[in-house]
Amino acid sequence: MNDDLPATTPVWAGVETTLRELLTAYGYSEIRLPIVEQTELFARSIGAVTDIVEKEMYTFADRNGDSLTLRPEGTAGCVRACLEHGLLHNQIQRLWYLGPMFRHERPQKGRYRQFHQIGAEAFGMAGPDIDAELICLTARLWKRLGIQEVTLQLNSLGSSAARLAYRDKLVAYLQAHWDELDEDSRRRLHSNPLRILDSKNPAMQPLIAAAPRLIEQLEPESQQHFEDLRDLLEVAGIPYEINPRLVRGLDYYGKTVFEWVTERLGAQATVCAGGRYDGLVEQLGGRPTPAVGFAVGLDRLITLLIEAGYTGLKCDPDAYLVTVGGAAEARGLALAEQLRDRLPDLRLQLDCGGGNFKTQLKRADRSGARLALLLGEDEVKAGAVTVKFLREEQPQQTLPQDRLAAFLTDCLAGGQYPSARNPRCGGDS
Ligand code: HAM
Repeated sequence: MNDDLPATTPVWAGVETTLRELLTAYGYSEIRLPIVEQTELFARSIGAVTDIVEKEMYTFADRNGDSLTLRPEGTAGCVRACLEHGLLHNQIQRLWYLGPMFRHERPQKGRYRQFHQIGAEAFGMAGPDIDAELICLTARLWKRLGIQEVTLQLNSLGSSAARLAYRDKLVAYLQAHWDELDEDSRRRLHSNPLRILDSKNPAMQPLIAAAPRLIEQLEPESQQHFEDLRDLLEVAGIPYEINPRLVRGLDYYGKTVFEWVTERLGAQATVCAGGRYDGLVEQLGGRPTPAVGFAVGLDRLITLLIEAGYTGLKCDPDAYLVTVGGAAEARGLALAEQLRDRLPDLRLQLDCGGGNFKTQLKRADRSGARLALLLGEDEVKAGAVTVKFLREEQPQQTLPQDRLAAFLTDCLAGGQYPSARNPRCGGDS
């Protein structure tokens, strides 16, 4: 579990702002969900014999003896909340959420025990148009953030009947090659054989490559859905690769599944993943409701962006107010508050803690501020303030305090402050 320090939080804020704006622009509304749910919810939705439920959940008994779990993902809780509050009665819903998720995995780069997702879930739409739109949304996110090296992998898992029939074929095939199976695959052979296709063990790859393929055995409806989705992605100009081995680690998926992967993150290559889960709402007690969604792994996305030099919402102060002497300190606080009243967007840092001009100017420089505003005894007596440019070759100037707000307005945005100033502070590229 990581601490995110001030050096990286502006990147988090930049990504979150971009995603919020994008999801809102596509008509998604935010839903805020608890971090803790009843354990049973995850066993019933993600699947009792998945890695997440079998090995990775943070589960504990509360004081009443109820079994609770820190959410390992957001889809199950989102469906639970929709059912509890009647959001799905003959309605279309487009929802998004953001927050920490918890899985007790073996930590490594890009894989943490507390990680963060922004997820989107669309309910009540059965056609491939919404699958395509969700994929377009994620493609637009990469574009807005200036990320180029991500590839879309696509597969279809068909209907549950097609998966069951396929499962029998796959088990028969793997059983015939029992000697070539590694320990993990032998364990999974009867509990969750489709996940064997996802094995990263190099020794297993030839066997997996020659295995029967689910994508070639879809029933006609899923096949049509997949073909239509492919057509829509082609029209939208979104390139993809079909990956017949993409099965996902959660049991609720059927038909479309997709992942955005990158080669820049090592083994933990997926930055966003999702798919269709038309059976889940009914499985959790609701009426049959088609649904599709995705989640972006923010920790991985942020690592990618930091490596690419993205600064996000890093906001240095516009000005740093230096005050030397008791009278100046008192006047400085009042002046700072007056400026904040007149220029609500001004980023002004007031020196607190004293020291002489030199000490305070050093702090002003370290703050990254563009201007230092100097208030000494002479200035207080004259009702003036001295402006020193910390980043530009410009002569310092002394002006009346009541002209300072107008001066800052002109100086900070070429006469158009604050509207012209980039509110993202160097965010999106
Ligand atoms: P997931 O594939 O388990 O899907 O997770 C989605 C993304 O979360 C992954 O692609 C990855 O970027 C990130 N992630 C997962 N585990 C970790 C970890 N231990 N450390 C860092 N990042 C991680 C889901 O969670 C589904 N609920 C997605 C979804 C929404 N499907 C439909 N709607």
